[in-house]
Amino acid sequence: MPSTATTIGNFAFDNCLMNAAGVYCMTRQELDEIEASAAGSFVTKTGTLEERQGNPEPRYSDTALGSINSMGLPNLGFQYYLDYVIELQDQPQSKNHFLSLVGLSPEETHIILKAVQASEYQGLVELNLSCPNVPGKPQIAYDFETTESILSEVFSYFTKPLGVKLPPYFDIVHFDQAAAVFNKYPLVFVNCINSIGNGLVIEDETVVIKPKNGFGGIGGDYVKPTALANVHAFYQRLNPSIQIIGTGGVKSGRDAFEHILCGASMVQIGTALHQEGPSIFERITNELKAIMIEKGYQSLEDFRGKLHYIN
Ligand code: DHB
Repeated sequence: MPSTATTIGNFAFDNCLMNAAGVYCMTRQELDEIEASAAGSFVTKTGTLEERQGNPEPRYSDTALGSINSMGLPNLGFQYYLDYVIELQDQPQSKNHFLSLVGLSPEETHIILKAVQASEYQGLVELNLSCPNVPGKPQIAYDFETTESILSEVFSYFTKPLGVKLPPYFDIVHFDQAAAVFNKYPLVFVNCINSIGNGLVIEDETVVIKPKNGFGGIGGDYVKPTALANVHAFYQRLNPSIQIIGTGGVKSGRDAFEHILCGASMVQIGTALHQEGPSIFERITNELKAIMIEKGYQSLEDFRGKLHYIN
């Protein structure tokens, strides 16, 4: 039987599949369901300094080809998630986890990360530089100057394993510029991609979500080509010490296979997990293994990053 095991930094995972931040990760109960599923890990809902209610409902809608959301960072506050991953890391059977975090300002981000640094948490941290949905707060990673100033400050005090969740980029020069920034820092991973920000879905004559007059982050089938391009662009440009987590448009073993072919070491599932529930991890793992068997691959290393070009 082939293995879908993987590593990120010094952390090992029995399976490369897991949830994407924002989906099935708001409460301990949801996180427990991911922990008990075939997923190799979980990431927590992005935690802010204080608990937040988020934007008014309806704020998520499934569509024929995926989803649109403008959640607005509803979460129970970073301490809730930090306490939980610390509790789990002391249990012998526990998987390794990702703690997703961001402040509503650089100052808040530093307060949060200093608290994590001072805590007993020894696991991975995902700094979310790409939330598209908080009115008046731009997606941080579209501003390379702000991104660089945050990272340079963070790495003056933060010594635990850290990666960043990125928005999609759409221009080759932006891939070059973003990679040049990330290559200056000891990041363990980048996660490509967050939702494609500020799309608009209409039914009959009306928007389908309430916040921001219907504008929201797009996920699902719409985003897979953009996600694969971002995974591969960063795989080609980043220092080999910075691994890639692939996220976007994964609803089958074939989709996960394509992310890994583009260079992903771990693959996250958002929209399809929301639609299908945690049993999706077993289904997609089986589909991925079937593809590996058909191709004669034993492990992800046999094909990771080995995308073929046309000469
Ligand atoms: C939300 C959406 C995102 O895509 C994200 O990265 C963080 C938060 C949200 O609206 O809650």
